[in-house]
Amino acid sequence: MQMPDVRSMCAIGLSGQLGLGGHLPWEGNKGPEFREDVANFFRTTRGHVLLAGPTTARAVPDYERQHMTIVELRSHMDPEETLAKFAGRVVFIGGGPVVWDVYAKYIRHWDITRLPYDGPADRWFDPKWLVAGGKTK
Ligand SMILES: NC(=O)c1ccc[n+]([C@@H]2O[C@H](COP(=O)([O-])OP(=O)(O)OC[C@H]3O[C@@H](n4cnc5c(N)ncnc54)[C@H](OP(=O)(O)O)[C@@H]3O)[C@@H](O)[C@H]2O)c1
Repeated sequence: MQMPDVRSMCAIGLSGQLGLGGHLPWEGNKGPEFREDVANFFRTTRGHVLLAGPTTARAVPDYERQHMTIVELRSHMDPEETLAKFAGRVVFIGGGPVVWDVYAKYIRHWDITRLPYDGPADRWFDPKWLVAGGKTK
């Protein structure tokens, strides 16, 4: 099956914090590192495909949606069939954690920013995703 170029880009806190209450744990923080991280995410994913769970996909602001193809991943969808629909494109797997549990083995390139946040979270980065065995092309 022909596969796309599968990548992932995420930001984590100092202990691997990813999410809190359906949002980024540091949401509302106006520090330059936090603002630059969000700007960099949209600059990098522009023109490409973002595949993410419903909560993550719906968090993309309206003014950015026109610049990318966003598909909500659901648990009944077959990962390889879903990815094959975007052969020839750059696809970013956007999370959250249960999505990365399944799609990590297809990711060829990870871009992870550690932000200076050390507060609470209810979603965490799992380093096992980086070494998930499987196909990357
Ligand atoms: N820091 C970051 O860079 C970053 C990035 C992404 C997300 N987050 C944070 O993470 C949180 C959102 O993640 P979340 O996991 O809670 O919600 P989510 O994004 O909606 O992802 C989880 C949902 O994806 C669906 N899904 C799709 N494919 C699946 C599969 N193959 N196996 C299992 N489930 C699958 C499931 O819903 P169904 O069973 O209903 O289909 C599941 O409940 C938020 O707090 C968000 O801010 C942070």
